[in-house]
Amino acid sequence: MTPMKSIKIAPSILSCDFGRLNEEIRTIEPYCDRIHVDVMDGHFVPNITIGPPVVKMIRSKKPLECHLMIEEPERYVEAFAKAGASIILIHQETCPHLHRNIQQIKDLGLKAGVALNPATSLGTIEDVLDTVDMVLLMTVNPGFGGQNFIELVLPKIAELRAMKHDLDIEVDGGITDKTAHRVKEAGANILVSGSYIFSLKNRKKAIKSLLNA
Ligand code: DX5
Ligand code: ZN
Repeated sequence: MTPMKSIKIAPSILSCDFGRLNEEIRTIEPYCDRIHVDVMDGHFVPNITIGPPVVKMIRSKKPLECHLMIEEPERYVEAFAKAGASIILIHQETCPHLHRNIQQIKDLGLKAGVALNPATSLGTIEDVLDTVDMVLLMTVNPGFGGQNFIELVLPKIAELRAMKHDLDIEVDGGITDKTAHRVKEAGANILVSGSYIFSLKNRKKAIKSLLNA
């Protein structure tokens, strides 16, 4: 199904040179819709990345989208809001009180999204679908950049698009010029991409290739 919504690109800074973070951001900023920031705690996922102090150092006019791959995200949501996040994504798998946690993000005046691992079914978020601004379907198991796209998520994207036609559906993991058209055809309209974009010197061309795929 072709998505009705326009396609947006969210480069993941996980694959950029952190020593030159703001320089790297300047290479993508004019061509993207938002900046995707991967936050990992070494518990929910087997990797540790960055926290609010680094988010605070990011200089960008584009909205910062913080993808919290952390346990008990409610303990850190306010700190990420203060650090400059505009959108916060929490994982269903880390939130026994998902509705409350979504409200916490919205009460801070931010956009709230819920993320699902490849093995987590849509039924787990059906009841909160009308309260979130977007849903992120992981197309890899979260934890690392540069992993291979997991095909079994494609029918899940289509199923979610059929459940809610005007929903912002984001996909994250293994998105390249080879896989972008498949997620778009399934119904995704926001594409996160890290290693593909940052492995290419010409970032404008990289982002365009995802938009045109
Ligand atoms: C994975 C992260 C992704 C990742 C995407 O846990 O959530 O955002 O950085 O990286 P690529 O595009 O390299 O798969
Ligand atoms: Zn991510």
